[in-house]
Amino acid sequence: MRNKTTHTTLVSLALFAAANLAPIAVAAEKPGDIAEGKKVYARVCFACHQPTGLGLPSVFPPLAGAEQVAGDPARLIRIVLHGLQGPIKVKGVTYTNIMPPHGPQLKDAEIADVLTYVRQEWGNKAGPVTAEAVTKIRAAEKARTTMWTWAELEKL
Ligand code: HEC
Repeated sequence: MRNKTTHTTLVSLALFAAANLAPIAVAAEKPGDIAEGKKVYARVCFACHQPTGLGLPSVFPPLAGAEQVAGDPARLIRIVLHGLQGPIKVKGVTYTNIMPPHGPQLKDAEIADVLTYVRQEWGNKAGPVTAEAVTKIRAAEKARTTMWTWAELEKL
C-alpha cells in the first residue's frame, strides 16, 4: 500500500513537472529567419527600398545603415503593420512620403523574418525580431486605423 502511494506521488510529480515545462517550451521566443525574410523582402519591400536597401533619393528612405532599422524593433513592427507617413529623417535626409500598411497581407512570422533580415543585411548588425513580439504588438494596436508618424513612434 505504501509503495503504491509512493508510486502515485512520483507519477503526479512527473506530470506536474511536465505540465510546468510545456508552457516554458512554448514561450521560448524563436528569432526570425533571415533566409525566409529575404524572400519576403524580395516580394514585398524591394520595389520601394530597392534590392540594395538604399531606397530612392528623396522618395524612399534607405534601410541600409538607417538609425531607425538598428533601433527599437517595436517601432519597426508598427511601421510594417500600420504604415508610416512623413516626415521622417533618415541618415540626415528628410522624407515626406507614405509607406502603406502591410499588416493585413503579412503573417506575424513573415514580419519577424523580414525585419530580422533587414536588421542584418547590407552591413546592418542589429538583433533578430521574434514572431511573438509581432503578435503582441498586433494585438495591442488592433484598434488602430491610421498610419504612424515618426513623431508618434519616437515617443513610444
Ligand atoms: C510602396 C513603397 C514601400 C513599400 C512596399 C515598403 N516601404 Fe518602407 N517606407 C516607404 C516610405 C515612403 C517610407 C518613409 C515614409 C515617410 O515619409 O514617413 C518608408 C519607411 C520605412 C522604414 C523607416 C525608415 C527607414 O528608412 O528606416 C522602415 C524600417 C521600412 N520602411 C521598412 C519596410 C519594410 C521592412 C518593408 C517590407 C515589408 C517596406 N518598408 C515596404 C515605402 C515603402
